[in-house]
Formats: sequence, structure tokens, C-alpha cells
Amino acid sequence: MEAASDPSGEPRRRRPRYAGTHPRRFAEKYKERDPARYAETVEKVLASGKTPAGTHRPILVREVLEILALSPGDRVVDCTLGNGGHARAVLGRILPGGMLLGLDADPVELPRTVARLRAEGFGPESFQAVRTNHAALPRVLADSGFGPADALLADLGLSSMQIDDPERGFSFKADGPLDMRMHPGRALSAADWLRKVTAPELARALTENSDEPRAERLAQALAGRAFTRTRELADAIRAAFGRGPESERELAVRRVFQAIRIEVNGEFDALESLLRALPGCLAPGGRAVFLTFHSGEDRRVKRAFEAGLRAGVFDGGSGEVIRPSRGEQRENPRSAPAKLRWVRRAVDEARSASEG
Ligand SMILES: C[S@@+](CC[C@H](N)C(=O)[O-])C[C@H]1O[C@@H](n2cnc3c(N)ncnc32)[C@H](O)[C@@H]1O
Repeated sequence: MEAASDPSGEPRRRRPRYAGTHPRRFAEKYKERDPARYAETVEKVLASGKTPAGTHRPILVREVLEILALSPGDRVVDCTLGNGGHARAVLGRILPGGMLLGLDADPVELPRTVARLRAEGFGPESFQAVRTNHAALPRVLADSGFGPADALLADLGLSSMQIDDPERGFSFKADGPLDMRMHPGRALSAADWLRKVTAPELARALTENSDEPRAERLAQALAGRAFTRTRELADAIRAAFGRGPESERELAVRRVFQAIRIEVNGEFDALESLLRALPGCLAPGGRAVFLTFHSGEDRRVKRAFEAGLRAGVFDGGSGEVIRPSRGEQRENPRSAPAKLRWVRRAVDEARSASEG
């Protein structure tokens, strides 16, 4: 910080200079994070195809609503509440008389989302939230007396709030502590996990979780090392990448971060538990929509849905994946990798098994 002389003889401290009209650092984006006061700034950010800091743009909302075919009085579970974008759209269809149960593993963002929805007028008679891993959904439904759902949504992965906040340690674009936990304080941080992991284990994670073609080489260079900051890890990945185009090197950084995040949060175990429990959590005729963002997620959802259709547990769903339109991808580039699949719980299980 600069010091300037003062007639009183005391050194006068200058405020840190504002970095310009287009703040780059998350901490400087205070206007975007206060939409009520700075609506114009938020509009400009949205128009440029970016996500305003501290928010999340829900994906494929129209398609989700069409598939879920909701009516007033329906009971709906949102397994990944996030910023509440899908939840708000669902609440618009199920009131009066309906109830939305929102789950999220993240103790930092969940209270903010709940406070926002409450401020918008959704009281406990129409909206309840539980901070939990969605692997625990059957227990939550039983304990809360919510019972089987008429509709269920799982919009997997991370919210933009989590990705964009360097302090959460998910971002390879901004420096921060190498954490990556959806629930900070639970289990191992990414830094602790990397320090303990062996090269073969890391190579397996890079291949299975993000289809990384240079898995062996990168695992040899990274496993067992003590990184503390996201930038340190990103630079080490770039250094270990070897020869190749810069765009490929940056993709490798993205894939390594994704693979580590999936391990640290046990994302595939949680998804598989949810998929196993899904038929028992839906009422007959109830629909479930899953939004996935990479092949490891989509493969698991596709397999579970196909097995359920063969067994007659489900009696309908999407044959092909549904993707965001070009327009949505242009307006919200983060929607580009999304794939939507859905199924319907069989009304007459015995009949749909014999037909299938
Ligand atoms: C893509 S965001 C959901 C965004 C949300 N649909 C919206 O419109 O704002 C995914 C959310 O799921 C949560 N999440 C991811 N895995 C989870 C799990 N296993 N259990 C509970 N929540 C999870 C993340 O913390 C994150 O908030």
C-alpha cells in the first residue's frame, strides 16, 4: 500500500487502487455480487455471456420443466439445490399446495440460497432444505416424512459460486488454497489427498474421472507432492505436460483438477448410491431428470436408467440425451457440456417388465 505525506506529519494511507472498470479478481466484483443495487452491471455481465460473480445460471430450465410436467400440489426433490435457479422455477409450478425439498452438501452456499428463497416468499410450508450428501436421500425422505417424490432433479457437479470463489480451491484460473471440498472441514482437502496418493492411484483417477490421455506421465510428476495453492498445482501440470499445443495443455490442467475434485468429494460413489436408491424415492409415475457434465457421470446415469427400463422399474424416458440449444450455449458457455437424461417410475411395474 502507498503512503503519502500529510501536513500533520502522520503518514497518510491511500485506499488500494481500484483495478479498473473490468475487475478481474473475485474479491473486486462487489457490484455483481449485489444485484439489487447494481442491476445494470449484472445485466452487462450476463449480456457478455459470463456468469455474474456469486451466482449460477440454471441450465435447460425449459426442458426440465417440460419433462417434469409439474402441477400444483406436487412434491419435488432437488438433490443439488445450488443457487436455487431450478428450485425457483419448480416452485413456480407446484404452488399452491406443493412442496420442494432441496438438498446440498455445501454448508457455505446452502444458507445463502435458503435465505434468498425465504426472502422471495417461499416459507417452510412450501420449501425445506437439508444440508446433506444426496447419497443419504432415502434416509432424509424417511426421517422427514416427505415420502416418495412426484419429481426429482439432480444437476450434478459444481455451482458457479463454488468454481468462481478462489477461496474454495476449485479454480485453476485464480490462485487459492488447494482445497476443492464441497463441504470444507470434511475428509481430506485436495492438497492432503495429493500428498498421500500413489502414482498408480492418481493415474487411475485421471483416466477414470476425466479420460486424461497423459494420465501415467502426469501422475508420476504429481503424486505424493506437497502443493498448497491451486496455481502451484496448475503450473506443475503445465510443466509435466511435455510438448504439445497450449490449448491441449490447458485442457490437461482442467482435466486433472476435475479428476482430483471427483476423488476428494467421492462424487461417483454418491451418484451411484443416488441412482441405486432412485426407484424407491419416486412415486409411481414420478419422473427424474439428471443433468451431467462429463462422460464419467453420463455413463453411470445412462447405465442405471437402461438397467431400470429393462427390469421394468422405469416405464419411459429419454432414449437420446438432450443438449442445450446453440442459443443457450452462446448465452451461457458453461452450459455447453451438459447432457440431460430422464426416466419415469413405472406405474405398473409387473406389466412394464413383461413388455420390456
Ligand atoms: C450445478 S450445481 C446446481 C445448481 C442448481 N441447479 C441451480 O439452479 O442453482 C450443483 C450443486 O450440487 C451440489 N452437490 C454436488 N454433489 C452433491 C452431493 N453428492 N450431495 C449433495 N449436493 C451435491 C453442489 O454443492 C452444488 O451446489
